[in-house]
Order: sequence, then C-alpha cells, then structure tokens
Amino acid sequence: MALYSEKVMEHFRNPRNVGVIEDADGIGEVGNAKCGDIMKMYLKIDDEMITDVKFETFGCGSAIASSSMATELIKGKPVSEAMMLTNKAVAEALDGLPDYKMHCSVLAEEAIKSALDDYYSRHGSDRAEDESSKKIGRPVDAAGRS
Ligand code: FES
Repeated sequence: MALYSEKVMEHFRNPRNVGVIEDADGIGEVGNAKCGDIMKMYLKIDDEMITDVKFETFGCGSAIASSSMATELIKGKPVSEAMMLTNKAVAEALDGLPDYKMHCSVLAEEAIKSALDDYYSRHGSDRAEDESSKKIGRPVDAAGRS
C-alpha cells in the first residue's frame, strides 16, 4: 500500500493558494519545534467571511498538502466555521496521513487559528479569547493598556 494517498501527492505537487496577501486582515505563523517546519497563513476577511486565504509553508510534503487542503476547506466560509476546523478534518479530506505525519496537519489547524486570533486582536473582538486562544493557549491581554 502506498504511504501517501493520491490526494496528498496531488496537493503536494500542485498546492492551492500558495503565496502572500499583502493587505491581509489576519496573519498567523506557527512552527513545530521538533521538525523545524514553519507555516504562515494569510486571511482576507470581509463581513465575517473568509474571502481569500494564502499560505507559505517551509516544511515537509505533508505540511504542504495539509496547508493546501486547509485553505480550500476555509475559503469562502464564515469565520465561525474556520474556527472549528480541526487537523483531523484536514487529514480526512486528504484521505488520511500516516500516523507519524499527523503533526503536519496540526500545523495547518494552528496556523489558521493563529491568523484568526490576529484578526480578532486587530479588530478588538473578544471572540478570539473565547475560541482560538483556548487551543493555542496564548494568554490574551484584556487590560487594554495604553
Ligand atoms: S515533518 Fe514536521 S510538519 Fe511535517
């Protein structure tokens, strides 16, 4: 049996939504300390809808395929849906990843949540505290210091 599904290979060879959004509304960057791979996500959000998403991934094939699939899954969707995207859903949409490559899909989930976190911190909503910071575990300064 092949190690990687056809879908993983296809998204690796031909990744969707690669690049940068210069005037992004939210940017998230995450890395995996063990393998050293880095993923950066850019979101364009209009009226709580993800109108555009692009990524740059310096990482393994599974990380590239995961970012590509994750962008496809959230593009054109409401922010509330993107917030719920799990690495499991990304891996399933790719018809599975080998167990030892599941952490690559975790990067995609975290990069999106980090970009949404950034979007909410720029827009002053407290929804980031309720949703994404829970998973990322980043403390949110609600003191509003000047
Ligand atoms: S090996 Fe680390 S992201 Fe794939």
